[in-house]
Amino acid sequence: MNRPEPESIILQNRVAYGRIAGEWERRQAADYDHEFHERCRAEFLKHFSGTRVLDLGCGLGLDSLAFARVGLRVVAADIAVEFLPIVRTKQQSLPVVAADMTLPCFRAGAFDGIYAVASFLHVPPELVGRTLAGFARMLAPKGILFLHHVQASDGCAGYRIDDLLASDNPALCFCHAPAELTRMLASEGMRTVAVTGVRPSRYPSESAARNGLLPYQLIALKAEVAE
Ligand SMILES: C[S@@+](CC[C@H](N)C(=O)[O-])C[C@H]1O[C@@H](n2cnc3c(N)ncnc32)[C@H](O)[C@@H]1O
Repeated sequence: MNRPEPESIILQNRVAYGRIAGEWERRQAADYDHEFHERCRAEFLKHFSGTRVLDLGCGLGLDSLAFARVGLRVVAADIAVEFLPIVRTKQQSLPVVAADMTLPCFRAGAFDGIYAVASFLHVPPELVGRTLAGFARMLAPKGILFLHHVQASDGCAGYRIDDLLASDNPALCFCHAPAELTRMLASEGMRTVAVTGVRPSRYPSESAARNGLLPYQLIALKAEVAE
């Protein structure tokens, strides 16, 4: 893939999601994969202890709302500000924040868990190291990071979606093997405690089939004291 600069990739993805936020919400009843999301949340909760969760790249915010329903203190964050009023409409009391996960955005130790479903895949390779370092920093000791992510069966590093819910609405995505992220997280004091293989109900999507994508969830624990 011939890639533009990382900052323009971030901008392009933000614009692409901003354009389709309203349409995605309208299609939610027909398209949203509730069963998949429920299974991902269950995997996260198996390892999570604490109360404060950051849903990073929250989109329509349905995972945030589900966490709030079971009594967790959730912040819903997304780079595309168009999602924020949509989430707020569903629950006024839920804190919603515009945030780019590649930049330090919350104070150190602010969360017991960071939950990122299909959002970290938009981080360009040049920014992955600093993004993971930021996650580790925002987590309290014994905090849990949950990433729903993809690796490519042919080792391909990234792919482009040309028509993200609208024609000529490109978004760029990047793949990593769990071992690669595990290695990078270890240097930030985080230990992978599980890699699970929950698949979306309609897997493989057209894009997953075309790009040989294998979904997985990586769950990592922040050391209690620096290791
Ligand atoms: C495929 S959607 C997933 C949304 C939601 N997590 C879900 O599973 O329904 C990807 C989300 O990541 C957000 N996103 C993309 N790049 C981001 C970034 N750098 N920082 C924060 N959010 C980002 C997009 O705006 C979009 O809402």
